[in-house]
Amino acid sequence: MDYINYLAEAVYFFQKFICHVQHEGALQLSTQAFRELKINESIYKATMRILVVNNMIDFDGKSYVLTDEHSIKHKRILEDLNSNNQIKKYEDLYAKSVEEPGFFFDRINDLEYEIYSRCNFSITYESGKEIAKYLDFTDKTVLELGGNSGGLGAAFLSRYEDCSYFVLDTRIPCKIGKEFKELYGTNVSFIEGNVFELEVPSQNYDYILMMNLLHDFDDVRCGEILKNCMKYCNAHTKFVIIEDILKNDYEPKEVILHGLRLAIECMGGKQRTIEEFKEIFLGINYMLEEVIRINEIHTMLVMGGTVI
Ligand SMILES: C[S@@+](CC[C@H](N)C(=O)[O-])C[C@H]1O[C@@H](n2cnc3c(N)ncnc32)[C@H](O)[C@@H]1O
Repeated sequence: MDYINYLAEAVYFFQKFICHVQHEGALQLSTQAFRELKINESIYKATMRILVVNNMIDFDGKSYVLTDEHSIKHKRILEDLNSNNQIKKYEDLYAKSVEEPGFFFDRINDLEYEIYSRCNFSITYESGKEIAKYLDFTDKTVLELGGNSGGLGAAFLSRYEDCSYFVLDTRIPCKIGKEFKELYGTNVSFIEGNVFELEVPSQNYDYILMMNLLHDFDDVRCGEILKNCMKYCNAHTKFVIIEDILKNDYEPKEVILHGLRLAIECMGGKQRTIEEFKEIFLGINYMLEEVIRINEIHTMLVMGGTVI
């Protein structure tokens, strides 16, 4: 199986970043230096996180430092890729990140979107069974943004039958979701739409849930999504965010490893720390109420509105 070698990708990307940087001995690069090299911020940050947590570079709080010892380890990884005829794969990935900036879901064709949405149902249904243990949706009205074909919703509804569950997503996931709804008799209501022009049945929702959605967008776009939700919120509405959230810049390591792929697929998208989420939610006067680690990769944040 062609598994993703996250560390090799980060080493390859880093070597591409610095290929024109002159240095003798240890190399020191500030975050400003990356800006001057005009490297996309979410891509270089994800790369550097992977290197730091794997001791392939040091970070002293201001600059990244590549010692001779690190250089030897990088060289070994690149030689391995070369001897296994893997370099082309990494060249292509790097070229894609530079030449095809854009958003994953805009780049895939209808068939790929359909396959993605079919596979997504069972994956989110399985993780949803675990997630549903942590939130009591009895009698609640829930709006899930980017809920794809409704696997998470189906899991919640199998536990809380009387909850009203709405999923907003684009055309293809909603079409596939409706097929699954027929097949399994679940009661998810699908709304075909756009999170940036949010139009949903006009009612106050108890929960607005987003799983693996905000990490696809930069901070400005996330702020837009949250502001669009506000007209459907009352003083009791909670936001629930479930994704690959970081405890801090360099933890947990297993989560950080996926960050570069995410940054490549969704230019501007990025993993965030809990503190960064708090910052984004401050924009709509919401505060962090709960942090729940669901599994090795996913963490759930519950955010509540401040009473003014
Ligand atoms: C990374 S997937 C996450 C899917 C699912 N929630 C999960 O956790 O696996 C992001 C979802 O957001 C949807 N999406 C992306 N941009 C959107 C937009 N502008 N409006 C509505 N849905 C969007 C995609 O179709 C996709 O279903």
